[in-house]
Parts: sequence; structure tokens; C-alpha cells
Amino acid sequence: MTVKRAHQRTGDSAAGTAKQMEGRIKALGAIVMAAGLGNRMRSKLVKVLHPVAGRPMVLYGVELAERLAGEGMAVVIGYQGEQVKALLEAHGASTTRTPRTFIVEQKEQLGTGHAVMQARAVFLREWGGPAERYVILNGDTPLLRESTVRELVRLHEREGATVTLLTTVLEEPTGYGRVVRKQSRERGGRQGETVLRIVEDRDATDTESRIQEINVGTYVVDGPFLFEALEKLKPHNAQREYYLTDIVALAVKRGLRVVAMATRDAEEGLGINTREQLATAERVVRQQICARWMEAGVTLQDPATTWIDADVKIGQDTVLHPHVTLEGQTIIGEGCVIRSHTRVSDSRLGHRVTVLDCCVIRDAHLEDDTVIGPFAHLRPGVVLRRSAKVGNFVEMKKTELGEGSKANHLSYLGDTRIGKGVNIGAGTITCNYDGSRKHATVIEDEVFVGSDTQLIAPVTVGRGAVIAAGSTVTENVPADALAIARAVQVNNPGWAARRRALPPAGPSPARERQEARGNGSVRGKKGEKR
Ligand code: UD1
Ligand code: CA
Repeated sequence: MTVKRAHQRTGDSAAGTAKQMEGRIKALGAIVMAAGLGNRMRSKLVKVLHPVAGRPMVLYGVELAERLAGEGMAVVIGYQGEQVKALLEAHGASTTRTPRTFIVEQKEQLGTGHAVMQARAVFLREWGGPAERYVILNGDTPLLRESTVRELVRLHEREGATVTLLTTVLEEPTGYGRVVRKQSRERGGRQGETVLRIVEDRDATDTESRIQEINVGTYVVDGPFLFEALEKLKPHNAQREYYLTDIVALAVKRGLRVVAMATRDAEEGLGINTREQLATAERVVRQQICARWMEAGVTLQDPATTWIDADVKIGQDTVLHPHVTLEGQTIIGEGCVIRSHTRVSDSRLGHRVTVLDCCVIRDAHLEDDTVIGPFAHLRPGVVLRRSAKVGNFVEMKKTELGEGSKANHLSYLGDTRIGKGVNIGAGTITCNYDGSRKHATVIEDEVFVGSDTQLIAPVTVGRGAVIAAGSTVTENVPADALAIARAVQVNNPGWAARRRALPPAGPSPARERQEARGNGSVRGKKGEKR
């Protein structure tokens, strides 16, 4: 079968297409398998959605395949398919981009061979036949490097192979498919000798179980052979499944060339089946991420305790102190300092932002030169305009703090718009919730809010106004006014001195009774005034 390429590209400019095609390999299609539940994870969540460094595992393989495949690609989904599909679509899987990414459903999870087979119809429909060759990836190998897979494709071409597989040698190969080579029976398997077949862990004889070379689950296979071979698979094995790995023996039987390439380090081939392997992958990916940011000019004072998610971006000369966590889609500008025990999630920080110790910042935007903390909590929807300052024990939600404004101590500010040059005194609280609904507070430019003020929303404080400390503000305050809203103070001259002059209160009858009984520690009777 030959490849007919459909050039029905919609909406892509020529330049855009060229850019999208950069680095992609001609006539190479891709298939990523992501339909299995992953029993060994003992989870209600499908394995491929478990995150590694904050990013669902499946995206590692999908992104890698997208960077390689010059032809279309297919992601096979099944177990919790709706969720996986939603993720892939949010990620940009699309049939209108070039090359296109198809989401294919495997209704029953009958094995990896069956999974790949589900992609056939799409390639047939869209291209009139299979691509010249495919790169096939398991959805659970997030440590796989792009350079390795490129090398595998080159080897496949150079060797004129029909099937090329990636292997690695493990001290502890239990659970993986073993690579059976010629003479492996006598010598325990040796690289360089012809590959005969792959035997799954559960189907392996004792001798085969001792083979340490394992199948990583990454393959390059000629398209026409692939789908013909898949049709011939039989589920004759311990799991009653259609094993993709059986195409190796099929190729060998037909006298077609099968080659194997070993990864440079064993870690790269890690397939995640258990929570322990998940933790290993997490550690390795995190180390790689830290190394990448240090390389890019970011100081990590203690990489071992710095947690940076895969999608985070950090500007040059930013300094991260020990125990900092940066999560999700966070973007940090240049020259920022983030002190210890701070977590930043899905937030945007400008340049030269200082975050002192122990802050939690979620879904917030901090513009250039802002300072926050220690112990500040910015909840979703907070915007700190340039040079604004938020001090200790301040909680903010859905609130904008204007340029140069300050909320330095002990405050709750919610559903509030605060203008420029405003001072929010210690202990200010916006009372935004009446028990059923939320209401807004507006504080215009140059307002001074005295300490211990409660603003009962909805309320507006006009430009330049001053609110006296201790006020409970229930009415709008006009611009430039002074608002005092507290009980008037009464001074009673000499009262304290007169009280001091009274005779001391005598012992109570209860106390005398207890002392008579010799009971040492005596408490006054409840409600007794002393
Ligand atoms: C597979 C290989 C094994 C290899 C190991 C590497 C087979 C038969 N075995 O075993 O040789 O050493 O990977 O990690 O291929 N999947 C589907 N549909 C299914 C079954 C699985 O899409 O019906 C997907 C899974 O979501 C996963 C991938 O295929 O992403 C691999 O499946 P898994 O069950 O983890 O295979 P292993 O037993 O690890
Ligand atoms: Ca696996």
C-alpha cells in the first residue's frame, strides 16, 4: 500500500504550516496508546491522567509524538475516555491543524495490539492507507526523550528494518516484557544478537524471566506491515489480550528485519505501572526541570526541595529559595525573589517581584515591583498593580490593589477594587458576604483607610477620603471626606482611681470551706465575681 497524503489543510497560512512542520519527520505517523485503566496503580483515576510534575502523564507522549510525526497521529483512548479526550482537546488535539491529531476510541481494552488496530480506520479514511512508518508509544513512559526516538527512527531507516524497538537493561526487570534474542537461552540474552520475540512477564518461563533486557514500549514499524500483522494477532497468553509485542515474532517469522536499540540510561525507559514508579518518574522529571531552569539563568538555592511543574516559566536572574513550589501554568518574570515555603499556582508574576516566606498565591497576577508576604494568601482573581505591597497575614480574593497601594498588615480584602496610592490600615476587613450573596467594595485613589476598619459592602469610598480608625463603614464616603463611624468615647474623670481605693474583696465562703479541708489548689465558684 502506498501513502496518499491529503493536503486539505484548512485555515493554515503557508508560513504557519511550515512552522508547524519544523522538525517533523516526513511520512512518519504516530500512535499513542492511552486506553488502559492501569490496574496496578490501584486508582479510580485512569493511569494516563495521573500527573507527573503537574502535567498528566499522557501529554508527555502526545507532545513528543506531535513534535515528530510529519503525518497525522492518533491517540487511542478508552477507559475514562471522556476525561482523556477533554484533556487532549484542551491541549489542542485537533483535526484541523497540520498534521492532524485524531482521537480514536478503543471500546474494550483488549490489549496493546488491539489498541493500535483501532487507529487503522482513521488512517485509511483520511489518507487512503497507512503512513510509510509509524512511531508507536505507550502512554505511560513520560521520561522518554525526543532525541532517543529520533535516533530510533534513523536506525530504522538506516537498517531497512520493518520493526525497530527501544529496549533497556534493568537490574530488576519484573513486570516488563523481555527481549528474547537468539541463543538467549544459553547466555541469558546478549545485545547485538538477533531479536526473536518479546515475551511478557506473565508469560515468561523461568529462564526468560532472568533476561534483563526489557521492551520499553516504543516502536518504529512500517505502516503496511503493522496493520497486516495486527490482524493476525491471537490472544493466546496469560492475559487473553492482543499483544502489540507479538508483531516482533511475526516479522521474524517472515524473514523481515527487526532491530533493537538500547536507551542510554535505564531511567528513560521507565514505564509507570505502580505508584512507586510514579514517584520515581516524578523525581526524575523534577530534577530535569530544575536543571533546565538553572541552565536558563535561574538561581535555585536548593534544587532538591524546589518543586517546579512542567509548564511553569521563569525569567532570568530570579532566585528561588529552598522549599518553593511553583505549580500549573505559573509564569514568573525576571529578577524576582521567592523566599521559602511559598506556593505559587497558576499565577503570573511580573519582573522584580518579591515574595517573602510562607505565602500561598493562586490564580493571581502580580505586576512588576510588587512585594508580598510573609504569610500572605492571595486567592483567585487577585491583581496587584505595579509596586503595590501586601504584608503579613493579609488574605485577598477577587481584589485589585492599585499601583503603589499598600495593605501591610492583618486584613481581609474580598470583591474589592482599590485605586492607586491607597493605604489600607492594619486589621481592615471588607464585609463582602451577607450570608447569601457577595457584594463589592470600591476604594478610589489616594484613600486612607484607618486601622481596624470594617467596610460593609456594597460600599464606595470616594477619592482622597480618610476613614478614621475603628470605623464600621456602612454608607458611601464622598471624595475627600473624613468618615468616622464608631461609638463616641466617654471619659469618666477619676473613676479608675476611685476603684483602686475600694477595700479588696474578702475570701468567699466556698474558698474558706475548701481551705479548711486542706485542698491546696482552689478555683472560685463558677460565675463568682472576684
Ligand atoms: C507493555 C508491553 C511490555 C513492555 C511495557 C513497557 C505489551 C503487550 N506489553 O506492557 O512488553 O515492557 O509495556 O512499559 O504491549 N493500553 C491501551 N489499550 C489496552 C491496553 C493498554 O491503550 O487495551 C495502553 C495503556 O493505557 C498504556 C500502554 O497501552 O499506556 C501500555 O499498557 P500497559 O498495560 O501498561 O502495558 P504493560 O503491561 O506495561
Ligand atoms: Ca506499562
